[in-house]
Amino acid sequence: MKKIIFVFSILILGLQACYYDSEEELYPSVEIGCDTVNVTFSATVTGIFSSRCYGCHSNANANSYGEGIKLEDYQDVKNAADGGRLLGSIKHEQGYAGMPIGASQLDDCKISQIEAWINAGAPNN
Ligand code: HEC
Repeated sequence: MKKIIFVFSILILGLQACYYDSEEELYPSVEIGCDTVNVTFSATVTGIFSSRCYGCHSNANANSYGEGIKLEDYQDVKNAADGGRLLGSIKHEQGYAGMPIGASQLDDCKISQIEAWINAGAPNN
């Protein structure tokens, strides 16, 4: 009887180990995380734009490279956000010019962060 209990508990421990292993493998992104809660204009949105968009849409470059569309000052970004152009372009939706031009699309996390900021009313935070 002792032997059976022993074998049985090894089996259960073994199963639990498998369960925890696969949970980590199944949900890696949840643990690493994409923070769409602590999203601000000054840090998150401007951070993404400065590395991926200012080459064409900074105040200095917009007229030469960005068709005059400026995405540096809050009010300019807010206008693009409110009109739906900002999200449409970074999500490559039909009817919008897909951004950034000539480079890879923003990754899913960055798109989600910008979308979260817009859904929060595009605050100047
Ligand atoms: C290499 C230059 C370049 C880069 C980099 C770039 N853009 Fe643009 N963007 C343009 C040009 C040129 C247009 C006008 C394109 C058109 O109307 O066909 C434009 C248009 C837009 C528009 C208006 C789109 C529409 O259909 O109304 C938005 C919004 C925009 N860009 C946002 C961004 C964002 C956000 C980024 C960074 C993720 C970015 N762009 C990166 C050159 C660029």
